[in-house]
Amino acid sequence: MANKRALIIGVTGQDGSYLAELLIEKGYELHGIVRRASTFNTGRIDHIYRDPHEAGATLKLHYGDLADGTGLRRIIEKVRPHEIYNLGAQSHVRVSFDEPEYTADVVATGALRLLEAVRDHMAGGGEAVRVYQAGSSEMFGSAAPPQSEATPFHPRSPYAVSKLAAHYFAINYREAYGMFVSNGILFNHESPRRGETFVTRKITRAAARIKLGLERKLYLGNLDAKRDWGYAKDYVEAMWLMLQADAPDDFVVATGESYSVRDFLGRAFGSLDLDWQQYVEIDPRYFRPSEVDHLHGDASKAHAKLGWKPRTTFDELVKIMVNYDLDRARRDVAIRDARLEGRSGSERDEW
Ligand code: NAP
Ligand code: GDD
Repeated sequence: MANKRALIIGVTGQDGSYLAELLIEKGYELHGIVRRASTFNTGRIDHIYRDPHEAGATLKLHYGDLADGTGLRRIIEKVRPHEIYNLGAQSHVRVSFDEPEYTADVVATGALRLLEAVRDHMAGGGEAVRVYQAGSSEMFGSAAPPQSEATPFHPRSPYAVSKLAAHYFAINYREAYGMFVSNGILFNHESPRRGETFVTRKITRAAARIKLGLERKLYLGNLDAKRDWGYAKDYVEAMWLMLQADAPDDFVVATGESYSVRDFLGRAFGSLDLDWQQYVEIDPRYFRPSEVDHLHGDASKAHAKLGWKPRTTFDELVKIMVNYDLDRARRDVAIRDARLEGRSGSERDEW
């Protein structure tokens, strides 16, 4: 393992950060692609990143973008990875209705750019590269649950259509060029590192802040949607296992249980002794032009062929997220109080 090199596209995201921890633990020489932003966007990986000038730096970062094929090629030539994990995406389903062209460019054409870069790298004498393509249960869309690898796709958003294109690009490169490209069809997976605008994190963050008096209301959209929610830390193991298999394939990764947004609200607010119905209001702007009503995965193939199983239950997941957000909210209260301490009486009243 000592000489194995991996490259993560999307290393700054929720999954990228957990996968980075896993691969470092396994002894990989790890490289990650970071998008240029006007502020630091490495908050999720700061704890594992060391200044490259320091001895023992295990994660090397490269500026790059799935919209920039030339840059991807340069990074691949330089890093010469044995494994590439393509986790990069505009990953918000609702936003994909507002930015469909951008979403398709990054998610669908971006995956194609990557596959072309890998194909040329290997054709030019580079060592064999295995690629993980981050597919999504969104691709099933309105297909009836439970959904498995055999379920026909029916995507319901520009994001889902783009993920489906990437999924089929991967299969085509497998069939046409014999490349090792595996598609993970992952159902929703969450964690304290989940982006704050996805529904689970929006709920746990708001519940904690309401509990501590920092907020009063939470505005949501469709509470009836059902999702198969797992823990991101469990799911990145499945990604790694897919690239250690004898042959490339497609795998559903899910818990096999599904709950509604309303159920999640009940568990999260309930764990703080709050009645969510007193705080939640519906704002139609969070509805989607076409919704995915019910995702419920059947991951028996991943279990049988990869030996993968989820370890964290739904209730444990909610607890992990609520506890984290409660700690964050307590910190915000402490910062606010410390600031108030430093002010005069009249200023305090204005706060
Ligand atoms: P995430 O937190 O939104 O992370 C996405 C990552 O992609 C971030 O590092 C982001 O960079 C990067 N990125 C965005 N645009 C890019 C571009 N143009 N070029 C290169 N990188 C770009 O998503 P996640 O939850 O970790 O999910 C990881 C992958 O799995 C995504 O492809 C997502 O669509 C897919 N997926 C997620 C789930 C889920 O439930 N989490 C389920 C199925 C599939 P910044 O940090 O700079 O934004
Ligand atoms: N984001 C959000 N915000 N969703 C809401 C809200 C709200 O205020 N209110 C209700 N929902 C509903 C959505 O309509 C959807 O049915 C459900 O909550 C889950 O929404 P998200 O958490 O945004 O996740 P998603 O299922 O649309 O997409 C996530 O999972 C996919 C896998 O199935 C993302 O991580 C995708 O990148 C991923 O592919």
